[in-house]
Amino acid sequence: MSKKKPIGVFDSGFGGLTVLKEIVKQLPDYDYLYLGDNARAPYGSRSFETVYEYTLECVKQLFAMDCELVILACNTASAKALRNIQQKYLPEIATEKRVLGVIRPTTEVVGKLSRTGHVGILGTTGTITSNSYPIEIAKFYPNIVVHQEACPMWVPIVENNEIESDAADLFIQKNLSNLLSKDKNIDTIILGCTHYPLLINTIKKHLPSTITILSQGEIVAEGLLDYLKRHPAMEQKCSKGKSIEFFTTDSAENFDKAASLFYGKPVKSNHLEL
Ligand code: DGL
Repeated sequence: MSKKKPIGVFDSGFGGLTVLKEIVKQLPDYDYLYLGDNARAPYGSRSFETVYEYTLECVKQLFAMDCELVILACNTASAKALRNIQQKYLPEIATEKRVLGVIRPTTEVVGKLSRTGHVGILGTTGTITSNSYPIEIAKFYPNIVVHQEACPMWVPIVENNEIESDAADLFIQKNLSNLLSKDKNIDTIILGCTHYPLLINTIKKHLPSTITILSQGEIVAEGLLDYLKRHPAMEQKCSKGKSIEFFTTDSAENFDKAASLFYGKPVKSNHLEL
């Protein structure tokens, strides 16, 4: 029997489960291995060096668990660690393996959706200060005007299950009005953090219905489908046994309690010591 080679999906904590859910929906045949670095989350306000160090450690772990392909289902890790992993680590240490992020596939579609050509990005402080979104969007759509807003409170709100609270309403209203005050022509907003789809009801409440809100799950899943079609050698390496395993660097019991909120169904995880 051939060895299992799951597709690795990584996030600093729970957020990547919103992406995994959509990936499994669109590509149900593969084996998957999810790793949440909950013990060290959130990554959002950490330095480049720290996010790189933590992300690389988790990627190495997924490689050691036989993943040939790893998706960084975390904008902060994609913004701060992906380029170094792709350009420095892989060519030297793991030439046959691949690591993909969530920012590139999202920026590829944004130009097709905006009619005004004015786009807003919401993300963690790390993602916004990295300028990854404006840089990547400019590569595909140089005429698009991009405005950003860091929302440092949104991840803690989600992680602490304060989604329906007055505090959540207050911070979301404040950040959205800040973003819209930068440019009244914004017609498309990217939720540039895998935690934010959990806040969609409150986000919608504070935005005009004419504004398109882009969540990443479906986009990243479509991007992966396309990637596997274009890279048949990698596609053949990924095993197809329809298994999904979950690992967390923190308490498995705590992970399982919160994970279903993100994943949409019960999750049974294992603790992993890095
Ligand atoms: N899920 C991460 C992202 O998409 C944010 C969570 C964190 O700050 O660790 O950016």
